[in-house]
Amino acid sequence: PVLVVDFGAQYAQLIARRVREANVYSEIVPHTASVADLLAKDPAAIILSGGPSSVYADGAPFVGPELFEAGVPVLGICYGFQAMAQALGGTVAQTGQREYGGTAVEVTTAGTVLAGSPAQQTVWMSHGDAVHAAPAGFEVLATSAGSPVAAFEDRERRLYGVQWHPEVKHSPLGQKALENFLYEGAGLAPDWNPGNVVAEQVERIRAQVGGARVICGLSGGVDSSVAAALVQRAVGDQLTCVFVDHGLLRSGEAEQVEKDFVASTGVQLKVVDARERFLAALAGVSDPETKRKIIGREFIRVFEDAAREVVAEAGAHGESVEFLVQGTLYPDVVESGGGEGAANIKSHHNVGGLPDDLQFALVEPLRTLFKDEVRAVGLELGVPEAIVWRQPFPGPGLGIRIVGEVTAERLDTLRAADAIAREELTRAGLDREIWQCPVVLLADVRSVGVQGDGRTYGHPVVLRPVSSEDAMTADWTRLPYDVLQVISTRITNEVPEVNRVVLDVTSKPPGTIEWE
Ligand code: XMP
Repeated sequence: PVLVVDFGAQYAQLIARRVREANVYSEIVPHTASVADLLAKDPAAIILSGGPSSVYADGAPFVGPELFEAGVPVLGICYGFQAMAQALGGTVAQTGQREYGGTAVEVTTAGTVLAGSPAQQTVWMSHGDAVHAAPAGFEVLATSAGSPVAAFEDRERRLYGVQWHPEVKHSPLGQKALENFLYEGAGLAPDWNPGNVVAEQVERIRAQVGGARVICGLSGGVDSSVAAALVQRAVGDQLTCVFVDHGLLRSGEAEQVEKDFVASTGVQLKVVDARERFLAALAGVSDPETKRKIIGREFIRVFEDAAREVVAEAGAHGESVEFLVQGTLYPDVVESGGGEGAANIKSHHNVGGLPDDLQFALVEPLRTLFKDEVRAVGLELGVPEAIVWRQPFPGPGLGIRIVGEVTAERLDTLRAADAIAREELTRAGLDREIWQCPVVLLADVRSVGVQGDGRTYGHPVVLRPVSSEDAMTADWTRLPYDVLQVISTRITNEVPEVNRVVLDVTSKPPGTIEWE
């Protein structure tokens, strides 16, 4: 793999994704890994990421010069560039003069990394210190007002560095620079893609699982669906999926799992119709956190019962269920510590919820993949597009989109309004632009309206379209007025209980995405 050494400023994941977009497999390693650790992974190339530190700060992540003597091509970015310069005897000056944001650089020699660059270009910078003299053997490729040495390379030793961030979209030629490094600088072939993952994972899953039986909880979301499809491809009928229909899904979603997913993947599915049970448990409850607790608790109980049945059925055939599939993704693995087994910290939490007689080993076939790659794998496996491209949807479902008590009638009302909003947003081609668009029923609020000759006293629904990268922050999506108008007219005409449609124009923070 190409190793991306993470110096801790969230750039490492972006770099790893860009490398993969260049069709070269990459992995992230923490900066605490020793040079021996790095080399033990037999890296095809190494990229040193940016980071928040100054190379002069106490406890600044250190790069040993021996890294550059191993014959592995290295690209240093921002902090990584300065650390490389310092390790090899260049001069890094503490100017305290920041360059931040779009910055003009002058390319004096294109060399390898900047091949194809115009003499003047804008790049995205974020640094305080600057390299003032390149180490011996390096050629300076570019300069900027605040960076006498803004890029350098030593072709002989295959060492390269740039002060700016080629991985961000605000560096228009950044991807080109990364590809120059990978293809020309490191001599790598662009032969990896998420589709290759299928064959490799199928082998791994078979080796891990052997002849044992495997269980998987399906939620209808992207991750669990793709993970299940991959395991199905690997071990076929050794897999049993469990789908708990808690009645809090949106219109058509249960059918998507029960019919379309099963038809396209051939998984054995055990459907548990727990709709009445959830409604009974939620009766009389309005407090959002109480609803969440109840839904979570009931879900675990229903899943446990179903898992016990699967275990008993297998036992009757002299087989044992030894594995549980989880749709853990690479960002979870990296964020919980990076190294091998790191995601187990998190996974054990999930599995920890299960009692002793239901302890399974984990199968996590997506743990090296980013979300967009999971989608590509899903498409490769023939998972229905409606599932592959599904927007995020909370586990407690519509239960936390009814402000007030959850009842069967209110769920029907919300489902009808939500279906109209989704249909019109899809028709307008806005699905990929919108991160998610909760539709919220204000069941405890009544509003006066007039329809035909009569006064109505119904409920408002709220449209909450948001744009986001990761749900941590979000902005409200500026939907076209004509789309809003169609949604509003249709909902108030077609859903009798709703006589008002309002738009939420609050960013996050201060508002959360969901209303509860
Ligand atoms: P908030 O409302 O906190 O939502 O801005 C951030 C993201 O998380 C989803 N969400 C949940 N997902 N269980 C989940 O599985 C929950 O209880 C829950 N609450 C919010 C929300 O849809 C958004 O994507």
